[in-house]
Amino acid sequence: RPLIDPVPPLPALYTSIGFSIFALIATLYLVPALGPTFIKARLSGRDLLKIYPDPIPESLGLVCASIYILTLILFIPFAFSDALTLKSDTTPEGITVSEFPHQKLSVYLSSLLSLLISTMLGFLDDVFDIRWRHKLPIPIIASIPLLIVYFAERGNTNVVVPLPLRFLLGSLVNLGPLYYIYMSLLSTFTTNSINILAGINGSEVSQAVIIAVSVILNDLLYLPWPIDFRIPVHLLGSKTEVEFGGVWSAGMAYGSKELVERHLFSLYFMLPLLAVCVGFMYHNWYPARAFPGDTLCYVTGMAFSVVGIQAHFSKTLLLFFIPQIFNFVLSCPQLFGVVPCPRHRVPRFEADTNLLHPSKTLFLKPPSRLATFILRVLYTLRLIDITTHPETGMILESTNLTILNFFLVRLGPMREKQLVQVLICAQVAGSVLAFVVRYGLAGLVYDG
Ligand code: UD1
Ligand code: MG
Repeated sequence: RPLIDPVPPLPALYTSIGFSIFALIATLYLVPALGPTFIKARLSGRDLLKIYPDPIPESLGLVCASIYILTLILFIPFAFSDALTLKSDTTPEGITVSEFPHQKLSVYLSSLLSLLISTMLGFLDDVFDIRWRHKLPIPIIASIPLLIVYFAERGNTNVVVPLPLRFLLGSLVNLGPLYYIYMSLLSTFTTNSINILAGINGSEVSQAVIIAVSVILNDLLYLPWPIDFRIPVHLLGSKTEVEFGGVWSAGMAYGSKELVERHLFSLYFMLPLLAVCVGFMYHNWYPARAFPGDTLCYVTGMAFSVVGIQAHFSKTLLLFFIPQIFNFVLSCPQLFGVVPCPRHRVPRFEADTNLLHPSKTLFLKPPSRLATFILRVLYTLRLIDITTHPETGMILESTNLTILNFFLVRLGPMREKQLVQVLICAQVAGSVLAFVVRYGLAGLVYDG
């Protein structure tokens, strides 16, 4: 394996950490400072799971998104500092146009564009409560710049076939255009899946924090560390795919400079995101003094898609979304109208005991055969609770199909703060599982 050529500019990484600390402080300060302004602009909501009716400022995700995007813009000169200071041998004035990494710049700028669109969409959703069918296609369109850049980079569209299926499909399958469709749907999934796992204090932002930490840990695995960790390269998976390339070895990183740069790019986008989310979490923690609104869900979701696509680890990224995938699959009957879906599916608050109970959806008319079948299956799997008519056996009501209600069905009623802690534990467990699958089992399922 060739030794890595010049180590990419790590000082920019330290600058990014410095900028992130500023972003954290700015969020900690600005969220409470701007709260009253948001209430005055009628951007507020009642906390559904409290007795007090005071309006809580909503859409403070807009403040987070603004600080995040401004930090990323301010960071541009630093991300390209090596190119800006490079002296060319041929031209004494300095760098020639062709030497500047325009491609990297287009990766960066197209990412910013996608983040801006998702901020706009999230904010419009907060203000106008956009219908599902209208807002679903927007992240798909917002991902076009990312896809073009991916194409321009001759991004990989192959998937490695797991060993047991190779006799059928061969070792690599080129998905071609299907891969682009998959990537454009990824942004719709990441944005909406965080938004529908919501409604209790701290839920939206804690998901974002844990996923961001997971992505950062994953990126750190690819940096050229001066210490010898000696993770066997075969554990990093197959070498046939760029995403699966390992860089670990004695003392210095092996593998391509490109791989290191891609994960540095991901860190530049994840560190400030983590910072604004941690800052916001402080104010959103039970009892919440500020709500994130859809803006925060959309911008964080889009940021994850951006790094997954641009740094070429979208499949690993999806592994960090296990609770969201579970919640989405469980929600499908309600999202697609088979089972009635109330405006809010958050758990039911019982003021006397201060406990949360699973919330229910009522069948005003008898459920269809399909709905009955699905609900019976989910009930058998003990994912939901149903109430049936004692004589006819017809389903009268069912708990709402969300992961939060599932926790309450299985673990019993609990306080709001406990429920968010359970959610956090599930998310952390999901990430641990993701690392095991990615770096442990990948070695078994794929050859090195
Ligand atoms: C999504 C969910 C909905 C859930 C809602 C809660 C789906 C299809 N939609 O809708 O079921 O009820 O999120 O956010 O699953 N709120 C709280 N406490 C919190 C956060 C929010 O009470 O910690 C309430 C506030 O009244 C706030 C409102 O939720 O004003 C925000 O709801 P919104 O984000 O507009 O709901 P959706 O994203 O459309
Ligand atoms: Mg929402």
